[in-house]
Amino acid sequence: MSDLGIGRQRQAEVYIGVLSGGRRGVPIDPSGLERAARKRMSPEAFAYIVGGAGLEETMRSNRDAFDRRRIVPRVLRDVSTRDTSVELFGRRLPGPFLLAPIGVLEMAHREADLAVARAAAAKDVPMIFSNQASVPMERCAEAMGAAPRWFQLYWSTSNELVESLVGRAEACGCEAIVVTLDTTLLGWRVRDLDLAYLPFLRGKGIAQYTSDPVFRRLVEQQDDEPAQRSRPTLAGLSALFQLTRAYPGSFRANIRSPRPRAAVRRFLEIYSRPSLTWEDLPFLRERTKLPILLKGVLHPEDARRAVGGGIDGLVVSNHGGRQIDGEVATLDALPAIVHAVDGQVPILLDSGVRGGADAFKAVALGARAVLIGRPYAFGLAVAGERGVRDVLENFLADFDLTMGLAGCASIDEISHESLAAGA
Ligand SMILES: Cc1cc2nc3c(=O)[nH]c(=O)nc-3n(C[C@H](O)[C@H](O)[C@H](O)COP(=O)(O)O)c2cc1C
Repeated sequence: MSDLGIGRQRQAEVYIGVLSGGRRGVPIDPSGLERAARKRMSPEAFAYIVGGAGLEETMRSNRDAFDRRRIVPRVLRDVSTRDTSVELFGRRLPGPFLLAPIGVLEMAHREADLAVARAAAAKDVPMIFSNQASVPMERCAEAMGAAPRWFQLYWSTSNELVESLVGRAEACGCEAIVVTLDTTLLGWRVRDLDLAYLPFLRGKGIAQYTSDPVFRRLVEQQDDEPAQRSRPTLAGLSALFQLTRAYPGSFRANIRSPRPRAAVRRFLEIYSRPSLTWEDLPFLRERTKLPILLKGVLHPEDARRAVGGGIDGLVVSNHGGRQIDGEVATLDALPAIVHAVDGQVPILLDSGVRGGADAFKAVALGARAVLIGRPYAFGLAVAGERGVRDVLENFLADFDLTMGLAGCASIDEISHESLAAGA
């Protein structure tokens, strides 16, 4: 760490760097960043990333929960040197941040997950590879050197595929498996429904599948597609064109082959398992030595049961409000979960985190770290790898300054006493 600390260093880069002709980064204000990203994306891509379920009340509650908590600073404490680092599963991270798994990043930028992987590695912030990524995990891992990465799993109806994905994650150096439990069914996403747009139908966001030997075998075993009776519409042809382009291999070969359409059909059949129960978890436990975290836990009873069943960590998440409208805000759910888990495993939180002060509040209420979601996807849309790096640097800097100004020289000094009582 330099003498200035990451916060002052970043301020200097921005204020002084720009005066001396340096480049301007992506907008720092979260709404400005979102607006800039909107200009770079198709209406469908922007709607897919920004949107939530139903009336998007959960998204508002996530923000409202952060707004209701207030930081009470302590003064006259020496905060000239600050240590923002945290330990997580044996790794020391530069700050309490990870990159949330976000699928279909090719809608934000053509380099998609690869650009994010490079930016994450440059900052040593763990990236959680999405099961719905646009780039196979092995390619991202290769771009990351020894930098930390995890893998997020959607539990397929095929346990053989689950095993294959987890085996690949281990082989390419992922250090934890995050099982997302809140998306066994896709939420009622009004913006996407109104545009009749689901990226997977166009072959986007299925790279972890099309690169998987088990999945490919399942596609080959599938019966041929029933003959099309109706005339294709313009929208249908456009979807077919996009699918043919997105599918691995040459466009010429793909346009003649039934394989891309068969892969999408197979994907839709097997990508998630609504029948998943607690009884399924031992299957995963027996197949990996990596830490397993459950993402989407919001009830303290579920948290207790997970820990009792040998789960190594939890992500308190409502998927950024994309699944249930009117769902409890994650920051509101956090204290009861922290109480139930009683320090046995680390608890992470996401959904609505938009700045360093949000991370500070989550840590004050007992989270070990937070996941950054949409903001890095917007950074990616605006300026690719550089944009994601800017977003990460801004989060780290903002957190460092907030922590110091609150009178804390390290994460250990942040506690519930750092917040106003009764909020
Ligand atoms: C466009 C988009 C795609 C996402 N894809 C996934 C995914 O593939 N797997 C997953 O576990 N969560 C996924 N999420 C949820 C994020 O991991 C995270 O929980 C959420 O973005 C946090 O909310 P926030 O973006 O409002 O901060 C996705 C979120 C967005 C916005």
